[in-house]
Amino acid sequence: MTAQIIDGTAIALKVRNEVKEKVAARIAAGKSQPALATVLVGERIDSATYVSMKQKACAELGMTSYHKPLPADISQEDLEKLIKELNADPKVNGILVQLPLPSHLDEERVLQLISIEKDVDGFSPINLGRLAQKGREPLFVPCTPYGCIYLLKEAGVTIKGANAVVLGRSNIVGMPAALLLVKEDATVTVVHSRTKDIPAVMKNADIIIAAIGRAQMVRGDWIKPGAAVIDVGINGIPVLDDKGNPVISEKTGKPKQKLVGDVNYDEAKEVAGFITPVPGGVGPMTIAMLMANTLRAAEIQDK
Ligand code: GUN
Repeated sequence: MTAQIIDGTAIALKVRNEVKEKVAARIAAGKSQPALATVLVGERIDSATYVSMKQKACAELGMTSYHKPLPADISQEDLEKLIKELNADPKVNGILVQLPLPSHLDEERVLQLISIEKDVDGFSPINLGRLAQKGREPLFVPCTPYGCIYLLKEAGVTIKGANAVVLGRSNIVGMPAALLLVKEDATVTVVHSRTKDIPAVMKNADIIIAAIGRAQMVRGDWIKPGAAVIDVGINGIPVLDDKGNPVISEKTGKPKQKLVGDVNYDEAKEVAGFITPVPGGVGPMTIAMLMANTLRAAEIQDK
């Protein structure tokens, strides 16, 4: 069997175009332009890149973004002061604090300070608590897990009643993905570093969401034939030549790297029914869902 490839780039573009049309329609109707505040503490290159992609997406979709770069040594007090200002600012619809924060800052206190109506990342304890409770609905769902579920639905995968395995229990992806799958009536197992015999646990999975941060960990023979595999991993590994030696880039003089997921794609695609590639799978969905959440924040605040 060769898996159907779930094209995250195309699906994310569709979501972005829908958001763009809705933003244009609300502005034509005399409503405000949705606005996202991005808070970046310090100068981590990966975080700065993600934040600039989020700002660029806002501009492309007709939304405003206010960027708040802060020094790595900012105090907890000053960061909290900024969050309170953004909560009170009627021009700001969504607040995104890029994670991780430097270790001297108390992430939990910062996230719980964000007003739930502006919590477009869905990380505030109230939104996450609602996600974990039966009969309650969060205002916002964390963007990457939301993107994973969206991809499954677009591919026509039945979630209700399915056995789902989530690899990884991070606050950003694994745990909220597991909670979302439960809300969608899947039977969910969360696999983590202390799980005994992971391949045995995975054997019965109709849906796999891999977000454990270990390059190509999931092997083809762990996967149930026909399963849907959503690979959240983004890992850099060296490119090797025929003899297994690292290939050196002529440009940089350093070993060439390539991006791979948490799933061994070449093996998995021969067994799975559906699979997301890396890159071009879940990655583009995170920003698309953030844009959808920011529009939703503006709509909630219209009322
Ligand atoms: N760091 C890695 N992923 C995310 C995300 O989705 N949102 C935020 N705020 N920080 C992140």
